[in-house]
Amino acid sequence: MARMRALCLALLALVIAASGCGQRSPDLVKGKALFVERCGSCHKLARAGTQGTTGPSLDAAFAQARRDGMDSDTIAGIVRYQIAHPRRGSVMPANLVRGEDAEDVAAYVAHVAAVRGEDTGALAQAGLAGATDGRQIFVAAGCGGCHQLSRAGTNGRIGPSLDDLAASARRYGRARGETPEQYVRESIVRPDAFVVPGFRRGIMPSGYDKRLTRQQIDALVRFLLGR
Ligand code: HEC
Ligand code: HEC
Repeated sequence: MARMRALCLALLALVIAASGCGQRSPDLVKGKALFVERCGSCHKLARAGTQGTTGPSLDAAFAQARRDGMDSDTIAGIVRYQIAHPRRGSVMPANLVRGEDAEDVAAYVAHVAAVRGEDTGALAQAGLAGATDGRQIFVAAGCGGCHQLSRAGTNGRIGPSLDDLAASARRYGRARGETPEQYVRESIVRPDAFVVPGFRRGIMPSGYDKRLTRQQIDALVRFLLGR
């Protein structure tokens, strides 16, 4: 009997130790990177630099709660719940991130939503500034708020769909004496040099040549052409 009790105590101690290990502090840098990649195409969040408009601005969504003094842990809990349980029929897919990833995303949103200022240190590098992969750059730069691109999971409707860009870049490029690469690069850095038929001039923002590095523009062009 005593042996049984000792065993139980030992097991209990193990369980407590294990749950203690589970109390990790969230990785905000990872949370931000995941947010930009998976959530930013639909949600505006100023400090993450995302500009999606399919879902509500998360700054606006939590501004009142923040003013009412709701703490970040509570906000993180709400975000964590929403990630797993969007309302039925919502365009927001459930469980875009899971487990620790979901905790990290929720903690980052709670850390910055409706909080003024800019991310600093390692966090500053986690959004557009640190993005190297074409898909990440596309989403982090807010292109998806205006453009549908299935490979990036975006569904903007203000500009043309980029799903068949390789074909239109060949066609429009040929007419302008440009290679498809040149055409796409010019579409990004000088949007008004050529206006896609059926769309208006002056809607696509200029200045991406200053917001993005050369390497980022190169990666974006390759990604958009499906290379
Ligand atoms: C395809 C678009 C889309 C994506 C991607 C998306 N959401 Fe949403 N989200 C929505 C929409 C639309 C709503 C509005 C409520 C609803 O329809 O459920 C919403 C609601 C929310 C809300 C509640 C806001 C409020 O007003 O209370 C939070 C929080 C949220 N989303 C967080 C996230 C996070 C975090 C991610 C990434 C893991 C994400 N969303 C990805 C579309 C999206
Ligand atoms: C505010 C909306 C908006 C944003 C943000 C935006 N665009 Fe556009 N984009 C447009 C519109 C509108 C057009 C069509 C008119 C034109 O050609 O300028 C367009 C045209 C284009 C074209 C030419 C498409 C074709 O079929 O030939 C490309 C390529 C493109 N955008 C890429 C991007 C990329 C990459 C980003 C992000 C770095 C981006 N856009 C951000 C609105 C936007």
